[in-house]
Formats: sequence, C-alpha cells, structure tokens
Amino acid sequence: MTNLTDPELLVGVVGAGAMGAGIAQVTAVAGRKVFIYDQRDGAAEAARKAVLARLDKRVVAGKMSGADREACARRLQPIERLEDFGSCGLVIEAIVEDLEAKRGLFRALADIVRPEAVLASNTSSLPIGAIAVGLAQPDRFAGLHFFNPVPVMKLVEVIAGPDTRRDVVDGLIAFGRLLGRNPVEARDTPGFLVNYGGRAYATEALAILNENVASPSQVDAVMRDCWGFRMGPFELMDFTGIDVNYPVTEFVHRANYGDPRLRTTFQHRYMTETGQLGRKTGRGFYSYPESAVHPTPDATLVDAPTGRVAVVDPDGALTDLLTATGAQVISAENEEAVPLLVALWGEDCAAFCARTGTDHRRLVAVDLSGDISQRVTLMTAPGGDPVMRDSVAALLGQARAVTVIQDSPGFIGQRIATMIANLGCEMAQLGLAAPADIDLAMRLGLNYPKGPLELADSLGPDRVYAILSEMQRLTGDDRYRPSAWLRRRASLGLSALQIA
Ligand SMILES: NC(=O)c1ccc[n+]([C@@H]2O[C@H](COP(=O)([O-])OP(=O)(O)OC[C@H]3O[C@@H](n4cnc5c(N)ncnc54)[C@H](O)[C@@H]3O)[C@@H](O)[C@H]2O)c1
Repeated sequence: MTNLTDPELLVGVVGAGAMGAGIAQVTAVAGRKVFIYDQRDGAAEAARKAVLARLDKRVVAGKMSGADREACARRLQPIERLEDFGSCGLVIEAIVEDLEAKRGLFRALADIVRPEAVLASNTSSLPIGAIAVGLAQPDRFAGLHFFNPVPVMKLVEVIAGPDTRRDVVDGLIAFGRLLGRNPVEARDTPGFLVNYGGRAYATEALAILNENVASPSQVDAVMRDCWGFRMGPFELMDFTGIDVNYPVTEFVHRANYGDPRLRTTFQHRYMTETGQLGRKTGRGFYSYPESAVHPTPDATLVDAPTGRVAVVDPDGALTDLLTATGAQVISAENEEAVPLLVALWGEDCAAFCARTGTDHRRLVAVDLSGDISQRVTLMTAPGGDPVMRDSVAALLGQARAVTVIQDSPGFIGQRIATMIANLGCEMAQLGLAAPADIDLAMRLGLNYPKGPLELADSLGPDRVYAILSEMQRLTGDDRYRPSAWLRRRASLGLSALQIA
C-alpha cells in the first residue's frame, strides 16, 4: 500500500466544491502535491483561485510567508481529465452526495490508479460499505470525513467499510494527522459520530420551543451563559442554514428507525418549506440583518425584590444562593406572603407540588444546573402567583440575568445538557468510537465546550440518569430514556468515560 505520509505523495481530489477545495487546500499546506478535478468546466480552476485567495489573506495576516504561499500555489494543480489521477497514491472524493454517482466514480478511478493506491470518500451520510459495493478492491477504500470549512475544522472521521484493510485505516489516520487534523475512527453507521451526536442540541431546543416553554432567544441565552456554548441552538441553526440542518436531522432519525431520541419537530420542516432558512434568507428563528430588534431573553425586573423566602425542599446550594442575595431564608412555610423556593432536577413545578402538597401559587423553581453566575432560570406552576415569581426574579436578578420560563421538566439547560450527554452515552454503548474519541469529535466537530461524556461527568452520571428518568416518567416519552451505558455507570458510581 502507498505510504500516505510520504513527502512525495501525490493526492487527487475529485469534486471542487466547498469541501474538495478545502481538502485540497489543507493537503497543499501540509506540503503534498494535489491534483483537483471537477466534471464542471472551470470549477477546478475556480477552486484553486479560491484557495489562493484564502492563502493570500493568511499572508496579509502574517500567518503564512509569501514563499510558503507560492510553494502551495505550485503544489495545487487543476486537471481536466480523471485519467490524470494515474500516479496519485491517494484519491479523495468530494462530489455530489449521490450513491450511484459515487459508485460510478470509484469504479472508474479503480481502473485509473495503481493497485496500491488508496481511495477515500468524504460522504456525510452514505454508508461507506454501500459505496464500496462492486468495487474491484474494496479493501483499499474507506471514509475520510472532513468538516466544513475544512481549513478551520480540526476534526476528520476515518470510517472503515466491511472490507477495508487495517493498514488503510491506519494510513488515513496518519494522513489526517499530517494535515494537522485530529483523526477519530468511527463505525460505518448513519451520521458517523458528529452528525449523529450533534442531533440532541437542536432537536431538544426545538422540543422546548414546540411546547411553548421558552423562546429561541431565551434558550440561546441559557445555553451560552450557563453552559458555555459559543452559539445557542437557534442562532447556530440560523448560521448553518435550516436547509442544511433539517435534512441531516431527518436522515439520522429515519436511518435509526425513528428512534424518538433523534426526533425533531414540525416547525423544523415548516421553516425549511417556507424558506425561512436563517441568515442566508434574512429570516430564520431570528430576523437579519442583526440590527433588527430581537426579543430579550431576560425577565423584566420589578423594583422590589422579596426580602424573605422559604426553601421547601432543603438544598444547601439553593440556600447559599439566596443568602448571598441578602434575602432572609426562613423555615416557616405558612407565612402567606413568602415565596416558596425549590431547586428541581428533572421534575416540573406541577409534579413537585402534587408530590409534596406544596402550595403551587407560591412555588418558584430555580435551575441550579450549569453556571448560574451570569444567568439563572426560574419557572412556576400553572396558576403560580406572578407577584411571587417577579419578586424572586428581582432578588436573583440583582447579580445576574434571569430567564423566566413556563413549567417544564428539566427547565431548558437540564433538558438540553442531559440529552447531549445521553446521546454521547448511547454512542459509547453502540461502540461508534472510543469514549475519549466521542468527546474529542463533539468538541472539535461541533465546537462544544465539553464532550458529551465529560458533560455527563460534570453533572454527575447519577444526576443525569435521575433527570432523564424523571423526564421520561413525566412526559411518557421514550425520547428521554436513559442509555444503558449511563444507567450502568450511574448505578455503580463510575465515570461516564469508564470503558467496558
Ligand atoms: N458541505 C458540507 O458541510 C459537507 C461536510 C462534510 C462532507 N460533505 C460531503 O462532501 C461532498 C461534497 O460536498 P460539497 O458541499 O463540497 O458539495 P458542492 O456541491 O459544493 O461540490 C460538489 C462538486 O462536485 C462536482 N461533481 C459532481 N459530480 C461529479 C462527478 N461525478 N465527477 C466530478 N465532479 C463532480 C460538482 O460539479 C461540484 O463542483 C458530499 O458528499 C457531501 O455530503 C459536505
């Protein structure tokens, strides 16, 4: 087999669209000669120009020398015929996402390249094994899945088909490292790692919106301020395009035989059908340009914070938080004018009141999950007294923003965080990749502040398990069923990263 880290390696890239151009760029920057081909006239030359324009910006920014830019320009060569790939040791395909088109291309390439050359597909959604069907030497073929924009995204997934040889996988992992990426090996399953594991963030946010629990700007603010995400799920969907996000979500859900954990909502499809695709169409979950007024995610604070509160279900962290605000925390619950506070985990206010006999009109629930130094989320039961709620919001709002939502098991943050953690646990249970690679892939492929298993550990696997079990019980929805991986580790007091 070709040595894929050989300095003399010649790499072929087929398809000169967004991905092909990016792959050609990082290969040329890594010092390897690249041929790029596209069936569309002028596309390969246009891709070369686009790459060189990006490199020019790096030179201007002082991130690349002029000499290195010239050397890259010499290494990157558009070609006009597939037959010119004859001397390539590796050919990476990044053409249209169509099974027959890819199969046809690889069959043609197999006759052009030498028997020791390696063939790889950048497909996002087609099974590697299905593309390999009918290929003369399927053992030298694998998936090499980059992320968009390739020069920025430091992750590459390497996927073996049923016949792929181990040395081919190892060679592609070494090649990925050569390009300055972090390769992770993933099983040949729908969406591989990132496009499967990435479903929880947006779909749980959409479920929250669908149930009228909170607005997009409220959800986004909580996930940024309390959970450290660079973008909230709705601004992220608007940024990538709902026409990109929705089909991937549909595909992964269908390919997993309708697993409710992966289910989206009607509004996701509706926005696609009505052309509300996000930034690119000027309207998605928000209006653009951004100067347009967006609804505030923060509660309007009344002048008078409550001076006295009672904590109904003793919780040290809640008492500490309240004491720090200067409020007097009393134990008497029978003073009519005093709000009753509780920290809930996976339960909603109505269920808590029914279970404990607490007065639902005075109950205000606080979400203590995530970082509450910048923002905290409150919710009340139906029929809750708005004066009680607003006086608690004013109290906590002295030191942070406050998000007030409708009654919901798991508020916003617990719902989304535990869904991400649970899907990560399921990926580990299914053996889609090593637990540490699952975390790495989700951090690098999706810019998550923590991988899903790290996230489970930061909340505590037992707490994640308890929240999900409660949400499943209260909603009756198997969307929230805890992964067996999580249950086993939670019940034994182990880390979510504990391997079998
Ligand atoms: N865009 C993404 O975010 C992304 C991320 C990861 C993987 N991918 C995958 O990468 C592949 C390419 O995606 P893209 O976004 O660059 O698409 P694109 O539409 O930007 O580019 C595809 C290019 O392939 C060319 N092409 C089509 N059929 C061809 C053929 N038979 N021979 C030669 N050239 C052909 C087209 O002319 C076009 O220039 C797809 O398989 C896609 O699923 C895309």
